[in-house]
Amino acid sequence: MKILVTGGAGYVGSTLVPLLLAEGHRVTVVDSLLHGGEALLGVWANPAFEFVRGDVRDHGQVRALLPGVDAVVHLAAIVGDPACARDPELSRAVNLESSLALIEESRKAGVSRFIFASTCSNYGRMTDPTSYVDEDSELSPVSLYAETKVAIEKTLLQSASHNGGWCPTPLRFATVFGVSNRMRFDLTVNEFTMEMLTKKHLIVFGEQFWRPYIHVRDAARGIAKVLAAPVEKVSGKVFNVGSTDQNFQKQQLVDMIRPHAPDAQVEFVRKQEDPRDYRVCFSRIQQALNFQITRTVAEGIEEVAHLVRSNIICDFSDKRFRN
Ligand SMILES: NC(=O)c1ccc[n+]([C@@H]2O[C@H](COP(=O)([O-])OP(=O)(O)OC[C@H]3O[C@@H](n4cnc5c(N)ncnc54)[C@H](O)[C@@H]3O)[C@@H](O)[C@H]2O)c1
Repeated sequence: MKILVTGGAGYVGSTLVPLLLAEGHRVTVVDSLLHGGEALLGVWANPAFEFVRGDVRDHGQVRALLPGVDAVVHLAAIVGDPACARDPELSRAVNLESSLALIEESRKAGVSRFIFASTCSNYGRMTDPTSYVDEDSELSPVSLYAETKVAIEKTLLQSASHNGGWCPTPLRFATVFGVSNRMRFDLTVNEFTMEMLTKKHLIVFGEQFWRPYIHVRDAARGIAKVLAAPVEKVSGKVFNVGSTDQNFQKQQLVDMIRPHAPDAQVEFVRKQEDPRDYRVCFSRIQQALNFQITRTVAEGIEEVAHLVRSNIICDFSDKRFRN
């Protein structure tokens, strides 16, 4: 397939792009390089790879890239609650308005598959703390970031039509961890591991709250799996992407990191209320597409700890490692 990946220079994108190229696809990345573009150097010389520095808010530029494209993987966004809260206007323009325009232009250009990177944080807070939320559970976005994700999911699901050859699939990713070509140390597992190893001190807010986690290579494999699936299995369907046994409380993450940093001091700041507390069921993607993860959180911690100890990153506080 010819695949357009928006945001392909980012944390997920820079792991996804080499995977898609290895599977024999032609890949064009459009990215404005908010966090730099070095993450793509490893695929630069591949003749099946093309890079366009561009902003998804420039609808004309994006439109010009769409003819002949079979699939769009839409990752470009202002990512995370804090980043969106800092610049709501930009976040709406990128995450909402540009995504709506990209959907419209993709349909007009005859793009068949459209994968949208959504998030499990759309679930907000589970109503039954003893149970799991799944794709049919009520969404309760508690941030601008999640609100924009929910709005785009709705538009995509309404647009689904098997007959028209248009196959939209929103994927709700668990929180991602692990080593990628563009590294992020602002994601919980990576951040906790890095801080416990380097600063020997970590402050954890709301250690009892649940979240699901997925390794960045498994997130990329999930996208590739959906791209390869028969249209009727994925068109107009939402999938949580992760593994039911990889839901953890923050306290449990600390316990898993502890053997790598036995002398680190961890301070727990009890929070009674967290608007985001969710344990997620991932059986739909497993049953429909036979998707299984290949790396657990414990393995990801080991991988990140190894990276931190190897001293190949000089300054973990560099702002290119956080959104
Ligand atoms: N990382 C996670 O834990 C996680 C979890 C759930 C969902 N997601 C979603 O997956 C996608 C990728 O996340 P990530 O962690 O790789 O984030 P990232 O910030 O590393 O990557 C986003 C990329 O989009 C690019 N971008 C931003 N604004 C742009 C614009 N206007 N035009 C063109 N490019 C632009 C950035 O330069 C960056 O390379 C996002 O849509 C995110 O919401 C991520």
